[in-house]
Formats: sequence, structure tokens, C-alpha cells
Amino acid sequence: MFCATFKRNVGIILSGHGLVGLKFNCVTFSRTCQISSRYLHETSCDLKNLYKNDKRIRLNDGNYIPTFGLGVWKIPNGLDTINAVTWALNSGYRQIDTAARYGNEESVGQALSASEIPREEIYVATKLYDDSHGYNETLEAFHKSLKRLGLDYIDLYLIHSPMNGKILPTWEAMIELKDKKLVRSIGVSNFGIHHLTELHKTFDVIPAVNQIEVHPFLQEIPLVKYCEENNIMIQAYSPLANGQKLDEKSLRMLARKYQRSPAVVLIRWCLEKGYVCIPKSSNKHRIEENITAFEFVLEKEDVDFLDSLDEGFRTCHEKIKLPWTG
Ligand SMILES: NC(=O)c1ccc[n+]([C@@H]2O[C@H](COP(=O)([O-])OP(=O)(O)OC[C@H]3O[C@@H](n4cnc5c(N)ncnc54)[C@H](OP(=O)(O)O)[C@@H]3O)[C@@H](O)[C@H]2O)c1
Repeated sequence: MFCATFKRNVGIILSGHGLVGLKFNCVTFSRTCQISSRYLHETSCDLKNLYKNDKRIRLNDGNYIPTFGLGVWKIPNGLDTINAVTWALNSGYRQIDTAARYGNEESVGQALSASEIPREEIYVATKLYDDSHGYNETLEAFHKSLKRLGLDYIDLYLIHSPMNGKILPTWEAMIELKDKKLVRSIGVSNFGIHHLTELHKTFDVIPAVNQIEVHPFLQEIPLVKYCEENNIMIQAYSPLANGQKLDEKSLRMLARKYQRSPAVVLIRWCLEKGYVCIPKSSNKHRIEENITAFEFVLEKEDVDFLDSLDEGFRTCHEKIKLPWTG
């Protein structure tokens, strides 16, 4: 019997690469836990299955969302997406974030159907694109996404952005999809505070999630605060700043301290903040590497340091400031 005392994610620490290379030097231990010695002898593949139990967060509609997932923006439909999703699922990811706009829902669906993981254990998020706003258009676009994905329900359906307006009839259709149980949770993406308050003036059903660009270099503090006060989950997109800040000297130095890559430190920061984190990679090694963010925790002073890096560095079009057009 292996016995250890530590703060959190005990099973996941074990599940990454077995007990070899436990990086306890950077983990604060505070809780006693016992792990059966059988895990010591499992293959790393079996160990990775423990990620099935990775943390889920309760949304304002009572549903639970995994804290971590694979984003598939810019991964071409076809083998690239099938491989990425398959590698992610095999590594323990349980959430896939796609969109009608990404053009790869079909391949996401193929990878899901080829997987032996039960559907209810996998969380699938997709998005309604800006060109499909409006009540009828939303219903039609949703059914096309559902068909491409080869699913009979979607876990999270998001309005991709407030661009093109017609948000009120669009949201009405989203609520209908939820009422019909074709979608478990509904949310928005790239919505600013004014979009959310306008939506709330008309509807009691508020978004469960606002998917926005967030990383240490762009923290969107007022919007995050508003969402937290209104119980809207932040789903952080481009959590690696689209790969554009991974060479920052201070980040590299911090990564060295934890013997992790800069990317994994950024993901860990996102998890420490309590956001849902959806890094993209189409590379098998990096997909496997990114989920090792569950294997350690950042010391408070290092979270504080990352908090100090906010410089409004945005990698995507700033849609949260678009005017509300109803
Ligand atoms: N709602 C929206 O409007 C919106 C907008 C943007 C993104 N998103 C979602 O958020 C997801 C993630 O955002 P993102 O794609 O912009 O960027 P990201 O996850 O911040 O960064 C992805 C970039 O980092 C690289 N990378 C990944 N893991 C790495 C590692 N361990 N080491 C070094 N480089 C690594 C990737 O290259 P490789 O692929 O070569 O590994 C890619 O170039 C998207 O896929 C999408 O699902 C949503």
C-alpha cells in the first residue's frame, strides 16, 4: 500500500505517468490518502483511465462540466481531427470543444463513435456560428451540427459570438433546444458584460457558460468578476495565448522551477483560477503533455506572479466590445 499526504488531485497525480517521477517537491501536501499498490503495476494506459474521474464543475443549470478539454479550432477535418480527438480521449480528456465554424464536427463525431468510452462520459461542446442567428436559423444550424457530430444530444451549445446580433430570437431557440433535451446546457462565447445584462433583461434562463479568451496575459478581470457574480462559468479559450507567449522569459523560468513546460504552467494557472480550460493541440505528444497540468499545483506566490502578467494581449478578434444589437 502506498501512502501519501497531499493537497489535491491525488488520483490524477498517479494517473499521468504512474508513480515514476512524482514531482512532490512542488506540491503542498495537506490531505492523507491511500492508494492501492495495484496502481504501481498497472500500465500507463490503464493509469490514464483514472482521468475519467477528473474534476467536473457544477454549472448554474445543475449540469457538470469537465474542467479540461481539447479545443480543435484550426485542426483540419479528416484524419488530423480524428487523430487529435482519439489521442485526447486515450490520454484522459473528457471534453471536446468544436464549432460549426471549425468545419471539423464530422471528424470529431467519427472519433467519438470509434471510441469505446461511453457517450455519457464524454462532454461535447459546439457552437452556433454568427451567420446562423435567428430563431429558425438556430434550430436548423443546430440539427446540422448534431448530424455532423453523429450524436443525439450535445452537452454544451454556445452562441459563438454576438456578431450579427439577433441574439434574442437566437437565445429563445437555444432555450427550446434545452427544453427538448437536445442540448444539456446552453451558453455564449465572446459576450461582454453589456451583452449578458441585455440578455438577462429578457430571459430568466441565463447562459451556463461564457467562453472567452483568458490567459495570464489577458485576464478580462471585470468580465470574469461579472460572470462569477452571476454564476456563469468561464470557459477559457486560447489558454496558451495561441502559443504566442510560450517563449516569454519569466514564464520559462517559472516552468523550469516546476520542471514543466510553459504551456503546462499556463494550463495549471487556468485550472487554479477555477476556469474550464480547453487548450488546442494536434500533436500527440503535446496533447498528452497538456493534461499533465493535473499532476501538480502552483504555489500561491507563482499564481500571484502569473496574475501580474496581464497586459491585455489578445490573440482573437475582440468581440466582447461589439455593440448590442438585440
Ligand atoms: N469561442 C471562440 O471564439 C474561440 C476562439 C479561439 C479559440 N477557441 C477554442 O479554444 C481552443 C484553444 O484556443 P487556441 O486554439 O486559440 O489556442 P491555444 O490552445 O491557446 O494554443 C494553441 C497553440 O499552442 C500550441 N501548443 C499546444 N500545446 C502546446 C505545448 N504543450 N507546447 C507548445 N505548444 C503547444 C499549438 O500547436 P500544436 O497544435 O502544434 O501543438 C497551437 O499552436 C480552440 O481550439 C477552440 O476550441 C474558441
